[in-house]
Amino acid sequence: MRGLLFVLAWLMMMFGSWALAETRPLNPQSGGTIYQQHCLRCHGRAGDGLGSDARSLIVPPENLQSPRSRSKTDRELMLGISQGVLFSPMHGWRDRLSEQEMRDVLSYIRTFAPFLPVT
Ligand code: HEC
Repeated sequence: MRGLLFVLAWLMMMFGSWALAETRPLNPQSGGTIYQQHCLRCHGRAGDGLGSDARSLIVPPENLQSPRSRSKTDRELMLGISQGVLFSPMHGWRDRLSEQEMRDVLSYIRTFAPFLPVT
């Protein structure tokens, strides 16, 4: 019995903090709300880059559905969302959105533009 308690205590010590550090699961639905608020006007409804503001931009918004964009890894796209794209109207969002919100919005983008590995 004491042995069992010991094992339980050990397990809690080993994995308790790990479970706490785990971020909550991605939420494409709330990502969609963020997308509609902040990204739609440039990237367009289906991420095609034809949002209402796109016409007035010299550097056009990325078509997120293009194979070029889809072949980028989550890490690469997150970097663009977080830090922005140099010499373009795409500024970084890390000051306005939390890490979790940026992950959610990326998971939403992945619903219409799934990762397409280059072969
Ligand atoms: C003012 C217009 C504008 C807004 C608003 C905007 N973007 Fe962008 N986005 C751009 C432009 C322009 C580019 C860069 C295109 C290029 O590199 O030629 C870009 C690039 C990107 C890229 C990089 C794509 C790639 O293939 O590297 C991602 C990802 C992205 N945007 C996501 C978002 C998300 C998510 C939001 C909302 C939180 C957002 N954008 C809001 C204009 C915008």
